[in-house]
Amino acid sequence: MKVLVASNIAPDALEVLRTRHDVVVAVGASESTLIELIGDRQALVFRSGVTISRRVLEAADSLQLIVRAGSGYDNIDIDHLATRKIRVVRIPGPGAKAVAEMSFALMLALARQLFWADANWRAGHWVKAQASGRLLTGATLGVVGAGNIGSRTGQLGASWGMKVIGCIEHQDRALTQPLRHLGIELRTFDEVMSNSDFVSVHVPLKDSTRGMIGEREIAMMRPGSFLVNLARGGIVDERALRDALVDGHLAGAALDVHEAEGEGRVSGLADLDNVILTPHIGASTSDSQSEIGSIIIGAIDEYEFEPVTDLATVENFIIR
Ligand code: MLT
Repeated sequence: MKVLVASNIAPDALEVLRTRHDVVVAVGASESTLIELIGDRQALVFRSGVTISRRVLEAADSLQLIVRAGSGYDNIDIDHLATRKIRVVRIPGPGAKAVAEMSFALMLALARQLFWADANWRAGHWVKAQASGRLLTGATLGVVGAGNIGSRTGQLGASWGMKVIGCIEHQDRALTQPLRHLGIELRTFDEVMSNSDFVSVHVPLKDSTRGMIGEREIAMMRPGSFLVNLARGGIVDERALRDALVDGHLAGAALDVHEAEGEGRVSGLADLDNVILTPHIGASTSDSQSEIGSIIIGAIDEYEFEPVTDLATVENFIIR
């Protein structure tokens, strides 16, 4: 197949794709470059960090298969896609394990001020007397968005001895039991925000979630609590978060996703030492990416040998 790979994927998987298909790689490409390259491409592979706009899709005359090598679909024009007959394969599973583990790593690092202590000791400051950590054991973890990734995070919390509460967008009673089985009690969003020592955010970015954690929601949070966001920038209002971190209402925050992402950007929170900032690496473990790589290869090979000819069976689209 003629494939356009618009994001970094596992190098081994890219090598295999190159031996079997006609592959063009354009990582970090602008909209105009994507428009130029996509015309004859039958398959598109992408992750976060690139925007697959309506204009790009309109130029994709030959496109039959889209592989979203991960979870989020905020960077593709799904309204336009819904009008097209293009098979869409999403691969949310492997990255979910990595994101949940990283959420946990960030909560532990925040609770024990690890980055602050490390930076001080590297500079020769023995901050043993000033460091005052707290336990995750016995604390309440609030999971905003107890779906694929959030429920895994909650499960890790429960096995660590945390009390775990969570919310989902539509209060679906059918999920109460399965989530309880993982150690997660379903509550409303406001209850999760106001009753947790650690809030971990795992909702997709869409109209209903943009700015959902702003001044009002942060004010609801327990004094001295922590916020972790590995979902998407734009869900947490960074200015409101900054105010709460500066005035001491929140003890700390960790953000892997940001209002402005990419080389050369600097977060407005970068000067605060009770904040941990990472460059959208939640799903970036070699194990997860290699699993995703194998699924990408499978999806493209399978499509080549068994293209979807019955347009009625084409899945156009995903989860809204
Ligand atoms: C995802 O949505 O799967 C993650 O943000 C990882 C990525 O695509 O880079």
